[in-house]
Amino acid sequence: MRVPVLAGNWKMYMTPTESQSMIDQLIPLIEDLQNRKVVLCPPYTSLSVLSKAIEGSPIQLGAQNMYPVDEGAFTGEVSPKMLQALQCSYVIIGHSERRQYFGETDSSVAEKTLKALQYNLTPIVCVGETLEQREEKLTEPTIEIQIRKGLAPLVAGQFEKVIIAYEPVWAIGTGRTASPEDAQDVCAFIRTIVASIAGDEAQKVPILYGGSVKPENIKELMSQPDIDGALVGGASLKAESFARIVRFEE
Ligand code: G3P
Repeated sequence: MRVPVLAGNWKMYMTPTESQSMIDQLIPLIEDLQNRKVVLCPPYTSLSVLSKAIEGSPIQLGAQNMYPVDEGAFTGEVSPKMLQALQCSYVIIGHSERRQYFGETDSSVAEKTLKALQYNLTPIVCVGETLEQREEKLTEPTIEIQIRKGLAPLVAGQFEKVIIAYEPVWAIGTGRTASPEDAQDVCAFIRTIVASIAGDEAQKVPILYGGSVKPENIKELMSQPDIDGALVGGASLKAESFARIVRFEE
């Protein structure tokens, strides 16, 4: 009942010209596919190019961040209203790189998540433990706090409009993937926590795994009952590898 979501997070890669060329290669490789949600989250500077390029294709657009105010004197920031005007329908919130380098906290995640929903943007809320936390057996408490605080302002009916991405920090860009079983255990735990807050709505919440996802491991990850998709970094930058991930082809 949960449609698989395959989202590419391009991070700070790809000029508008490179983005155009990537999307021109990607569309023919995946346009025949049914029963998938395919999302690309390029840097802000490529949103305009991609919003035109994806017209009529099955690909949807997302941003990697936003500032949770409609508009105003906030130099350097981008609002949900601006993202909506560029045909964005998703926005990544609280990626671990934003938490680590830009001071994002669970309370900024909460504020952004609520604001994204007000603009009909689907928030992709990122959670995950560091290597240190995993080694100290703090994975579950860490994630429980991130979820409870990050979703705190939401009310009934809003939870099912959220996507949660479980990205263990130690697996991001390292080539080290969580084993499908470990990823499943944490994703199942996440669903239990969401259910304790949101009841039956938790069954509708897509939970993605992220961290060194590649064509070679997507099939096994997707065979886990609580993994509903992937948030892909490096392997989403090339049309051929991202297409194989979207198609679950090794
Ligand atoms: O948001 C995606 C992410 O952080 C994983 O990156 O390069 O390990 O797939 P990567």
